[in-house]
Amino acid sequence: MTKTFAVPRGTSDILPDVIPIWEALESKARKICKSYGYREIRTPIYEDINLFKRSLGQTSDVVNKQLLELSSNKEDEGYALRPEGTAAVVRSYIENSLDGKESISKLFYLGPMFRGERPQKGRLRQFHQIGVEAIGPNSTSPLLDAELIALAMNLLKELGVKEPKLKINSLGSKEDKANISLWLRGEFAKHKSELCEDCQARFERNVFRVLDCKKEGCRKIVALVVKNLPLSVDSQRYFDQVRSALTSIGVVFEVAPHLVRGLDYYTHTVFEFTAESGLGSQDAVGAGGRYNGLVHELGGSEKIDYGAIGFALGIERILLASRGGSLCPSDNKVVYLLDAFVIAMKEEYQPQAFLLLQELRQAGISAAMNFAGGSMKSQMGKAAKAQTRFTIILGDDEIQNQTVALKDMEASTQESVAINEIVNVLKNR
Ligand code: HAM
Repeated sequence: MTKTFAVPRGTSDILPDVIPIWEALESKARKICKSYGYREIRTPIYEDINLFKRSLGQTSDVVNKQLLELSSNKEDEGYALRPEGTAAVVRSYIENSLDGKESISKLFYLGPMFRGERPQKGRLRQFHQIGVEAIGPNSTSPLLDAELIALAMNLLKELGVKEPKLKINSLGSKEDKANISLWLRGEFAKHKSELCEDCQARFERNVFRVLDCKKEGCRKIVALVVKNLPLSVDSQRYFDQVRSALTSIGVVFEVAPHLVRGLDYYTHTVFEFTAESGLGSQDAVGAGGRYNGLVHELGGSEKIDYGAIGFALGIERILLASRGGSLCPSDNKVVYLLDAFVIAMKEEYQPQAFLLLQELRQAGISAAMNFAGGSMKSQMGKAAKAQTRFTIILGDDEIQNQTVALKDMEASTQESVAINEIVNVLKNR
């Protein structure tokens, strides 16, 4: 038997029946991002592997375990499929000197990301994100943090996620992070032998990750040890300002002192959105934070003090949480996919039907025909299946009189129209 092929594990086909939902989601997302002043950017789906290593951190799971490297031949060595969008956007920001063109670059992107995860519901190897990044010398206001978080909340709600829950925290400045790391090591040292094996390694390599551990035993120790992360006065003030800006615009949140996020580039504000979606531990529909140090880390001008903040939402998880919800066309509304379906009653009328098809399309009217011909009944069946608004029938009488029969599928009416008029008639409808 001939070998058949299956879609790679952790990826999926998005079939034509589902595409309208994706189109609706993408167009809504674009519209909302633009309404907050963000402009779309498209970067390649693969980048120099060191870009990810340097930005996301050598100890992050994404770099350590999940990078999908391209190494099919010598030339490809050193590249990896992008596991997220922030690193590439910052790379592009620097490479294209966007800092010289605008004081703040507000950018958004939509597209596939790749992580070599162990696949399960809501955790894929190829998934899609809507991401937003605000970068620039003028990008350090707590109001920007609040605006961006409000944008994420708005997107989630508009895309059909009911009651997204927002958790926020602050990791402080780069200096704060170094101090907190020392403090955490001091605190956890007293409980080191009680931590799980992974956390004992995290303790050595990046103690922040202990805060994120999902194991019950570690969570208990974390809850005991960490009530709040010790921040400097300036960082605490910044965090207070973000919180009051959020409250002033009615964004509800919970402060979560153990929220640290799995990527190394974060400083100051970090946040995560969860939703009831039957996803269990994969219930994060989106996340983000500030990453003020990353532009310098990747080679941005030392003379400029950059600020940067962003988030990404997982499209598949949004769809699971909303079950298509508000994006699905309502049940009682008929959706037409095609303006016209041309039916040639005899094979010899097909060339004329084919010509008409071309004229319709050139006039911007979407149209199709069945090249295999068939009886009137079967072709009408195909027209209905193609969800067409009008059918145009070429039969004996029509060919003889140079007319067509125009059938309105919605009103179930039929009329005769001169063949050289049909394009105009349909355009006016
Ligand atoms: P992240 O938390 O790694 O952050 O991913 C953001 C969202 O992408 C997650 O909350 C989730 O909804 C979705 N996601 C992540 N991994 C998977 C997966 N394997 N399968 C399905 N969905 C997934 C980032 O990617 C950062 N770049 C966000 C950011 C932007 N921070 C600053 N700017």
